[in-house]
Amino acid sequence: MQLSPLLFLAAGASATGILLPLYLYPSAIYNDGAANWKPVYDAIINNPSVNWQVIINPHNGPGLSGLPGDDDLNYMNGTAQFNSLPHVRTIGYVRTLNGASPLSEVEANITIWATWNSYTSSNISVHGIFFDEAIEPSGVSDGSNLAYLTNATSFARKAFGSTPIVTICNFGAKPDSRYYSICDEIIVFESCLDNNAGNSVCTTAPLPPQYENQTTISANIPDTTYANQAAIVVHDFVGTTYDGKQANTTTLDSYVSTLEANSVGWAYFCSLNYSSVTFGPATVGVFASSVGNA
Ligand SMILES: *[C@@H]1O[C@H](CO)[C@@H](O)[C@H](O)[C@H]1NC(C)=O
Ligand SMILES: *[C@@H]1O[C@H](CO)[C@@H](O)[C@H](O)[C@H]1NC(C)=O
Ligand SMILES: *[C@@H]1O[C@H](CO)[C@@H](O)[C@H](O)[C@H]1NC(C)=O
Ligand SMILES: *[C@@H]1O[C@H](CO)[C@@H](O)[C@H](O)[C@H]1NC(C)=O
Ligand SMILES: *[C@@H]1O[C@H](CO)[C@@H](O)[C@H](O)[C@H]1NC(C)=O
Ligand SMILES: *[C@@H]1O[C@H](CO)[C@@H](O)[C@H](O)[C@H]1NC(C)=O
Ligand SMILES: *[C@@H]1O[C@H](CO)[C@@H](O)[C@H](O)[C@H]1NC(C)=O
Repeated sequence: MQLSPLLFLAAGASATGILLPLYLYPSAIYNDGAANWKPVYDAIINNPSVNWQVIINPHNGPGLSGLPGDDDLNYMNGTAQFNSLPHVRTIGYVRTLNGASPLSEVEANITIWATWNSYTSSNISVHGIFFDEAIEPSGVSDGSNLAYLTNATSFARKAFGSTPIVTICNFGAKPDSRYYSICDEIIVFESCLDNNAGNSVCTTAPLPPQYENQTTISANIPDTTYANQAAIVVHDFVGTTYDGKQANTTTLDSYVSTLEANSVGWAYFCSLNYSSVTFGPATVGVFASSVGNA
């Protein structure tokens, strides 16, 4: 098991960091300084005690051009802005499609991500790889993708040479605990707040699991020694909770405090989906303050 390689905040820092899937195009207008990402940039600046990992995702992977920054000035500008801030790791997105993506394709995309690190005109380096859709096809993690993810994560570490990276695997549900020795970090829950509100993914049968605060944490991280490697992601934070509370800042603050009390390593709550950072009540700024103040 690797320790988190970058020198992140330790003393006085909040225990829980923010793992942000930023699937939002950086710019509203070409060369506008990545205006769409400005709320994230501001939230980072305004919460200096919080560690961040920002997942960059031009096109379900490093982008179609194969060139560093996907040869897109807007991605380069936004990524370089994040890299200029302390306590931020930029992370490159790849998808495993539950182990169905050919390893050769996953590896080719990781190789492209690694080329972002040798770009010289600006600092668009990434410091980790996010393996999306990592859970086994059955939806219940049983270890059947252990060989696949072992290969994929070790390829990533080699591809970045002497630059240390983190590997983050998105199971979205409780992983077979053996994956904790393969992936540095694991998303152990990714779902909705309410089955009667939010995007149709939350309200259409088969209904996805609702977030249930301590119950979810205890169920999905049964062995607390793994808590600091675990991440919890809740989207569509609107409507009411499983026990009838309002999706508001009071509830959000309480949930964040509970994550902190359980030493959960990483979290992200948003009120819409990963295409918006400004939809409330859980805008990126509000969530960051909640984590920063917890
Ligand atoms: C991003 O773009 C803006 C607007 O063109 C420019 O002022 C700024 O220097 C750029 N920043 C980086 C890190 O490239
Ligand atoms: C590889 O990247 C391309 C371009 O971003 C994307 O279309 C494809 O889905 C990616 N495949 C994997 C396995 O990440
Ligand atoms: C690029 O930014 C990253 C993240 O802040 C930093 O670790 C790295 O040293 C920077 N690289 C260069 C060449 O300045
Ligand atoms: C992983 O890599 C090993 C050694 O290269 C290879 O023998 C094995 O078939 C690979 N496993 C998978 C699931 O691709
Ligand atoms: C949030 O909703 C709860 C009821 O679930 C209420 O007690 C609390 O005052 C509300 N907080 C805000 C900021 O509206
Ligand atoms: C979440 O769970 C914790 C621990 O059981 C509890 O103290 C807190 O009040 C709960 N928060 C909400 C909003 O129900
Ligand atoms: C995010 O939600 C908005 C509003 O419901 C919707 O228009 C958009 O397509 C969604 N984006 C994704 C990627 O699902």
